Amino acid sequence: MAAGKGTRLKSKHPKVLHEIGGKPILAHVIATAQQVVPAEDIFVIIGHEAERVREAVAGTGVNFVLQGEQRGTGHALMVAREALSGSGNKYDQVIVLSGDAPLITADTIKKLSDFHTAQKAAMTLLSADLDNPYGYGRVIRKGGAARAEVQAIVEEKSATPQQKKIREINSGFYAFDASALYAHIDRLSTANLHGEYYLTDMAAVLHRARKRVVAVKTSDAGEVLGSNTRAEMMMLDARLRLAKCRELLDAGVTIFYPHTCVIDSDVEVGADTVIEPFVQLLGHTKIGADCRIRSYSVIGNSVIGDRVTVRPGTVMEDSRVGAGAVLGPYSHLRPGSAVGEGAHVGNFVETKKIKLGKGSKANHLSYLGDAEIGEGVNIGAGTITCNYDGVSKHKTVIEDGVFIGSDSTLVAPVKIGRGAYVAAASCITEDVPADALALGRARQSVKEGWARQKREAQKERRR
Ligand code: UD1
Ligand code: CA
Repeated sequence: MAAGKGTRLKSKHPKVLHEIGGKPILAHVIATAQQVVPAEDIFVIIGHEAERVREAVAGTGVNFVLQGEQRGTGHALMVAREALSGSGNKYDQVIVLSGDAPLITADTIKKLSDFHTAQKAAMTLLSADLDNPYGYGRVIRKGGAARAEVQAIVEEKSATPQQKKIREINSGFYAFDASALYAHIDRLSTANLHGEYYLTDMAAVLHRARKRVVAVKTSDAGEVLGSNTRAEMMMLDARLRLAKCRELLDAGVTIFYPHTCVIDSDVEVGADTVIEPFVQLLGHTKIGADCRIRSYSVIGNSVIGDRVTVRPGTVMEDSRVGAGAVLGPYSHLRPGSAVGEGAHVGNFVETKKIKLGKGSKANHLSYLGDAEIGEGVNIGAGTITCNYDGVSKHKTVIEDGVFIGSDSTLVAPVKIGRGAYVAAASCITEDVPADALALGRARQSVKEGWARQKREAQKERRR
């Protein structure tokens, strides 16, 4: 169920597209569901901002059911009737997941499904004991808490003071017998405080129809927490990221002060890599083994080889870094940067859409954009590729073994041939042939004694 608006978030974005752990809440739920059943058996109920939600997760191959008007969780299942129990009657069990509770695990979903089957129930709900059950539906067991059978679920708003004391909550995850669900779903009514069809009322409806309704408790109540408010979302985000850090620690990665690091769910890191405090590893970033990622580095969707050192404050997006390379401090690798094996990119060097060959160095204060730089090249401090003429971008080619003197400007399109030298402070506007020396600066002139004469003249005036 992912059709709701998420009013309590006070957001213009649909709730299920808010991100925790670096990806949409709904994407987490779908990924977990896919560990239990194939995508073709997953139906995502969308409604509020349906097209945006569909687009965000369409890549997973799941099906969609449109709930045009969102008239409650019960209504969501009414509109899915055709898909779930239509002509072919393909499904006998329907598992319902809440699109806003992303920490659920595949094991728990399987446990719910197995318990449902073993109990031969019409409806099985997953419950949890919460210290603070406020806001959740409460489970009313038939004949006391020890029995599996459930009489009803009461929503917070409709609960009596006595019922509000019940700590066993409805998680919003259910298994239904498809035919029992659809034989009775039309008995749901909107006679409640929100005027909605509550799926939770199916417990009482089925119970009254003498069908078996049971509950199974999660061992980890943290798994079922929902994200109705920003505060709840941030709590889930922290939980998820800490769990991610634990997974990496178990895989042999050292993370100092894990609670200061922001590591997205899909990030991969090799063993013996050390991650210092306040590092962000985002999106589909993949880091090799034996690396050191120093503090305040922000690395997004990049692939880094083994034994790479990333010094403090390095920012990287959509880039690739070869084994043994050294970056930073304060390097900025913009999209499309490919740094070769053992290459060095130093402080205040900005790169964009470049290839920097094996063992090449750009250590200080440079801008390198739209450039193909060979192996063993030395880019002197302050070198700039002038890649933009105000209208279009042009390419700079620097072949193997070239030495670019400090403070040079290379006006693209331009090519520096293999093994050539560019003298410091040159402005290069024409191609330089291999093995040549190019000078593109004014010749120095020296005026002997000029400074001494000036000082003496000043002294004379003061007298
Ligand atoms: C629901 C349960 C509550 C339970 C809690 C657990 C109901 C009436 N209440 O409350 O007992 O403790 O979950 O988290 O079900 N949705 C639709 N279509 C709609 C309405 C909602 O698809 O018309 C989707 C939402 O996008 C969301 C999910 O259903 O993903 C749950 O809806 P939400 O409004 O968050 O229900 P809760 O108030 O949390
Ligand atoms: Ca919810």
